[in-house]
Amino acid sequence: MSDQAVYNPVARALHWGILLLIALEFVLAWLMPDVRRDTQPVGLIAWHVGVGTSILVLMLLRLVWRGAAGAPALLPGPTWQEHLAKLVHGLLYAGFLVLPLLGWANASSRGWTVHLAGWLRLPGLAPKGAGWGHELGDVHQVVAYTLLGVIGLHVAGALYHAVVLRDGTMQRMWPRRG
Ligand code: HEM
Ligand code: HEM
Repeated sequence: MSDQAVYNPVARALHWGILLLIALEFVLAWLMPDVRRDTQPVGLIAWHVGVGTSILVLMLLRLVWRGAAGAPALLPGPTWQEHLAKLVHGLLYAGFLVLPLLGWANASSRGWTVHLAGWLRLPGLAPKGAGWGHELGDVHQVVAYTLLGVIGLHVAGALYHAVVLRDGTMQRMWPRRG
């Protein structure tokens, strides 16, 4: 397979790095205490905020990098599969930008100060006490679980290529030197 047919090293590092952070983020969401009216963003909740905002920045970087360096064209296959793959990739890109923003707006409406990676203070996305900001907490949860389903579809597609078709799709994204 020619070098041009695989994702570049930066795209691959971002893909797998972000996967690890997303896995960690769900574990944190499940382990952290229930967020109630007077809950403060400390402990595991602070970790959830710090990791989540890092995912937002890495996804932005990833999109900018994709725009600049490009990506290999999809391997040819049935048209419906190409459309489905593009749709799923688009949903993952959009979803993992929107999801952290929803969490951030909800956190701001709770009066929390949000820090990127627990370090850089970010501006508020919603006024403290804003009803709509509060509602976004529920939307954040629904979107998170919907995206978990989209990831499931994506992984099923990747496994179908790797195990059934054996067409080298996995190798295009697989970590390797160079
Ligand atoms: C990709 C990134 C993120 C993922 C996958 C994610 C996932 C989740 C999940 C699954 C829950 C629900 C937990 C449950 O079932 O009880 C949740 C809740 C929450 N998350 Fe996130 N989150 C992300 C980013 C963020 C960010 C960046 C913030 C804040 C800056 C945030 C703040 C919150 C808050 C405040 C709740 C509680 C919402 C409520 O109960 O009203 N999340 N998150
Ligand atoms: C075990 C989990 C995962 C596996 C095995 C996997 C595998 C792959 C493979 C093989 C490709 C290349 C597809 C191609 O060549 O056409 C790919 C692309 C992609 N993956 Fe994953 N992936 C996983 C998890 C994730 C997660 C959690 C996300 C969430 C952001 C994600 C987002 C994407 C996106 C957006 C692309 C398209 C890249 C582009 O064209 O810019 N993947 N994945």
